[in-house]
Amino acid sequence: MRIHYRSLLFGLLLVTGFFHTSLGQTTASQGLIADRAMVVSAREEASKIGVEILKQGGNAFDAMMATEMALAVTFPFAGNLGGGGFMVYRMADGQIGSLDYREKAPLAASKDMYLDKDGNVIPQLSTLGILASGVPGTLAGIFEAQAKFGKLKPRQVLQPVIDLARNGYVVTKNQAESLKNHRQIFIQVNGPNTFFGKEIKAGDTLKQPALANTLERIANKGKNEFYKGETAKILVNHFQKNGGIISKKDLTQYKAVWRDPIVFPYRNLKVISMAPPSSGGITLGQILKMLEPYPLRNLGHHSPEYVQLLVEAERRAYADRNHYLGDPDFVSIPTNQLLDSTYLKSRMGNFSFEKASKSADIARGELSFSESMETTHYSIVDAEGNAVSVTTTLNGAYGSKVYIEELGFFMNNEMDDFSAKAGVPNMFGLVGTEANSIAPGKRMLSSMTPTIVEKEGKLAMVVGTPGGSTIITSVLQTILNVYEFDMSMQEAVNAPRFHHQWLPDLVNFEPKAFGTDLLRTLKSRGYLINESASPIIGKVDAIRVLPNGKLEGGADPRGDDKAAGF
Ligand code: GLY
Repeated sequence: MRIHYRSLLFGLLLVTGFFHTSLGQTTASQGLIADRAMVVSAREEASKIGVEILKQGGNAFDAMMATEMALAVTFPFAGNLGGGGFMVYRMADGQIGSLDYREKAPLAASKDMYLDKDGNVIPQLSTLGILASGVPGTLAGIFEAQAKFGKLKPRQVLQPVIDLARNGYVVTKNQAESLKNHRQIFIQVNGPNTFFGKEIKAGDTLKQPALANTLERIANKGKNEFYKGETAKILVNHFQKNGGIISKKDLTQYKAVWRDPIVFPYRNLKVISMAPPSSGGITLGQILKMLEPYPLRNLGHHSPEYVQLLVEAERRAYADRNHYLGDPDFVSIPTNQLLDSTYLKSRMGNFSFEKASKSADIARGELSFSESMETTHYSIVDAEGNAVSVTTTLNGAYGSKVYIEELGFFMNNEMDDFSAKAGVPNMFGLVGTEANSIAPGKRMLSSMTPTIVEKEGKLAMVVGTPGGSTIITSVLQTILNVYEFDMSMQEAVNAPRFHHQWLPDLVNFEPKAFGTDLLRTLKSRGYLINESASPIIGKVDAIRVLPNGKLEGGADPRGDDKAAGF
């Protein structure tokens, strides 16, 4: 009888196409389906503007410029002009590449700039206020990508974004709460009359005239307006007047860099992801290659053995990440060795299903990474079949909180992704080595993992997420959910996630999302579980190409994220 009722209920859920996730939200089991083109991002307005540009005849790179700037308008939490990011692309003909527009340390930066005279790290200097920012790369990135591959004029691409900034957008409940929570800190950093110091409520229409004017100048004059023009002048004046170190030369010298992506096979898939200075591609590759010899599908989704395998592969990969990775323009990275199958097999040689490994035994345990959670990702597929996967960030929520009133945007606090002092954790728990120490003009190590998956030579998935050090393991689980456990794109995004990063030696689970039996079994095998205090692990926005060639969006219900398409 019980079975009868359960099948009835399951049938009903299938018919309605909805189910309740363990997050307690009602969520579609299949995401938006589109025939030809799609954008999935953290805000509906940004996804719709990206799609509007595609409808106007633009391609994925035009839509990238539009979506990225629309996120800067509607999602100042992480969308930005004052930050940086990474883009991985795959053209319809299979050509691949990636663009690094990560921030750089200013030329006046120095290795010990966040230490006091006794060599101790000065709290908050690298996270809050005028000294926390790297030289922004976002405008260089979107203009570089659009100039190389786009089809429309930047003026046309940016017009709907300018209109959005000028005419306003409606503030969501999540956003109003976040702005309220940060209001006092905005005032503390920028003074009582700062733009975001006013009370902003859910349902309000937020107009940003200063940002609209900045975007208008950029649309008319191109990226030079940001790096050499009036915008540059205002930005540098602001920094110099307030004791900052970003100079005119920092801006004029900034360049986005095309880099070879990290590419590796996993079963019948080809995974294309970001190379250093992001750790994303190499670490994702190491984990997937360590898992490949095991029959994950037979073990069962979220079985104790499945969780153990992922945790142990993550433990080993993050230990390597923390030791070897940094800016490739400054340190030499043994990429081939790190991704070598024999090496990775030997890394798992001491793993046993009987008992948890100890992080202290896996490596010398000098450091741990735990970057901040506030970043944003968007995925695009255009009607020609070109795909773009972009993760962009200010680092912390609203970056350094420094808001340049005349320009209408926040500056990043990406300097905190460097290691201020070897062996000493920053406020996010990050502890670094020499590979990620500060040097003038150097890029700080990232975890951003914009990724594209090919199956049998064809575009299969575009995926990425915010989430600091949990980015890599969230992308990993989304890929496994689809290709090992046959989930739809939306189900794969909705599914609860867990995370391990070598140190601290804890497995973080999304709260109230995993069964007590699983957690009890893992504890009995020696795993330390952190469920109650764990934050949201990732906010994945992804697109999957279905067998019939249509696109399915996966927009994460953990935020206001939305897919749009046609
Ligand atoms: N700021 C977060 C990251 O780059 O990984």
